[in-house]
Amino acid sequence: MLVLGIETTCDETAAAVVERQADGQARILSNVVRSQTDEHARFGGVVPEIAARAHVDLLDGIVDSAMKEAGVGYGQLSAVAAAAGPGLIGGVIVGLTTAKAIAMVHDTPLIAVNHLEAHALTPRLTCALAFPYCLFLASGGHTQIVAVVGVGEYVRLGTTVDDAMGEAFDKVAKMLSLPYPGGPEVERAAAGGDPTRFAFPRPMLGRPDANFSLSGLKTAVRNEASRLEPLEPQDISDLCASFQAAVLEATADRLTVGLRLFEERFGTPRALVAAGGVAANHAIRSALQDVAAKAQTTLIIPPPALCTDNGAMIAWAGAERMALGLTDTMEAPPRARWLLDANAKAPAGHANSRAGY
Ligand code: KG4
Ligand code: ZN
Repeated sequence: MLVLGIETTCDETAAAVVERQADGQARILSNVVRSQTDEHARFGGVVPEIAARAHVDLLDGIVDSAMKEAGVGYGQLSAVAAAAGPGLIGGVIVGLTTAKAIAMVHDTPLIAVNHLEAHALTPRLTCALAFPYCLFLASGGHTQIVAVVGVGEYVRLGTTVDDAMGEAFDKVAKMLSLPYPGGPEVERAAAGGDPTRFAFPRPMLGRPDANFSLSGLKTAVRNEASRLEPLEPQDISDLCASFQAAVLEATADRLTVGLRLFEERFGTPRALVAAGGVAANHAIRSALQDVAAKAQTTLIIPPPALCTDNGAMIAWAGAERMALGLTDTMEAPPRARWLLDANAKAPAGHANSRAGY
């Protein structure tokens, strides 16, 4: 089965061709990603209108490259998959409409993939992981703990009630005048800082649910930064280190609760899987390693190119759905919000943020 996957929900324009063999093994034939970081950098964050226009300009060429690199003709495709949400609606429309056009012209099935489902199924693409497993997804747009029970069977165990984790890193970087994207910059600055200099709050610590909250922590950093003005480089490092220490402790606590909730409902997870840009953070990785070891499970972090937004994960989710006969019609809508877990409710306050859908 050969599937073309298209990803345009945020600031990456991506397309890929993935092969799924009858035994469920995967082969990535091409995976082309064009990040728009430069276009957004001077605004200190993703500007939806700029992203949508860039997707329009870039997508045709990227799809063409993915098909050429894979050495596959449109007539050979078993399906065309696009991320139909959740995400910035302008970009979602561009990707989904392009997929519909290709599906229509070549008389190929269309699969409207939930972007979060694609992240959730990635460890099956990279290492054929068996169900059930626990996913920790932390990026600029999402912060969720999800029980991945089967294709189409996801139970959200925890989510952020305000900012996404990557968004909090980006906002802290911005208030300290560090460049965008802020996550790697904050990590770098934190390396030379004192994590105990500022006692920032550890949001949600000890709560019985597995939700996250990052907005109060971000405000605490802002207040401390304004109090110290003008900031010396050492202040910036200490602020970053203290912020990161608070994120680490909160993450370990929330994930420990999340894994306990998982165990109660689904038994021991086959693995704890981390995905999203924040999983690139070394301190967070080692915290996750400890959490997984304590819960007697293995930590799996897919390679960075498949952890962050890409077309291969969309193609793979499409292939998994196609294998179960789950295709969509031309009426499939683009969605700004699309909860992965049909029973989950959006947390209060999430409308102010990119996060939490
Ligand atoms: O998954 P991703 O590449 O894109 C989406 O958000 O969809 O995640 C990007 C986010 C940004 O907010 C970025 O600051 C954060 O991941 N990030 C990090 C690190 N590298 C990237 N956050 C903390 N530490 C890092 N090393
Ligand atoms: Zn994503």
